[in-house]
Amino acid sequence: MYQRIVILTGAGISAESGLQTFRAADGLWEQHNIEDVATPEGYQRDPLLVERFYNSRLSQFSDHSIKPNLAHLALAKLTREFDGQVLLVTQNIDDLHEQAGSTWVHHMHGELHKGRCPITQQTFAMTHPFGEHSVCTCCLPAQKLRPHVVWFGEIPIGMPAIHQALAQCDLFIAIGTSGTVYPAAGFVDEANFAGAQTLSINIDAISSDSLFQYHLKGKASEMVPLVVDKILAHQRVGE
Ligand code: OAD
Repeated sequence: MYQRIVILTGAGISAESGLQTFRAADGLWEQHNIEDVATPEGYQRDPLLVERFYNSRLSQFSDHSIKPNLAHLALAKLTREFDGQVLLVTQNIDDLHEQAGSTWVHHMHGELHKGRCPITQQTFAMTHPFGEHSVCTCCLPAQKLRPHVVWFGEIPIGMPAIHQALAQCDLFIAIGTSGTVYPAAGFVDEANFAGAQTLSINIDAISSDSLFQYHLKGKASEMVPLVVDKILAHQRVGE
């Protein structure tokens, strides 16, 4: 049935694992100022504030109660068992897809468990919280690592490969994302243009101006396993 699938996930897929989304009433952007904690200018102005923000998220991610849910597990099954190509793109900086067993995940907004050298752009696994002691080993003198996350005003990671996959896909599914942040919000347009089926899965109803051909309203943990089973059974997902 399908041969080339692109999946995009957003904060909604991790919500049932206990991680806050950004734009809910109790979301991260209600409690923090984007300009202060998620822009290069904010980091230049007050690096300690930005480090405190990401350190508190890092410690939240390390909480043992935060585990992949059935949606992450179903997508890992899809990447293992589907006999065509699947590109799993996430806007999330958590590692719940990897914990679920997905081996290749395209983190277009970066990964919080990594720090990046500001000179060479080399990334390092974070063994300490961000601060004085989180430094690179690629430069002399060693440089302070910045969070390996994409801030507003920066270009997301690996866009050419994503655009190419979208131009060739026959199914595009967006899961748990509000579709408010570009370029990810424009992926549905690219997939429609490529002639793909486009499906959105969200706990909320779809807006009237949505470009998706199909919408499944419900929790990701309930909807994604059903959709994955359909794909693996060579059935169309939209009908
Ligand atoms: P948002 O917080 O904007 O949207 C989360 C979406 O998930 C909403 O549409 C919810 O309705 C939906 N949702 C919540 N719980 C769900 C569930 N259990 N099942 C299905 N859907 C559910 O998060 P994102 O769209 O991921 O970027 O935000 C995109 C980007 O904006 C983030 O990557 C981040 C943020 O600013 C950067 O920091 C660069």
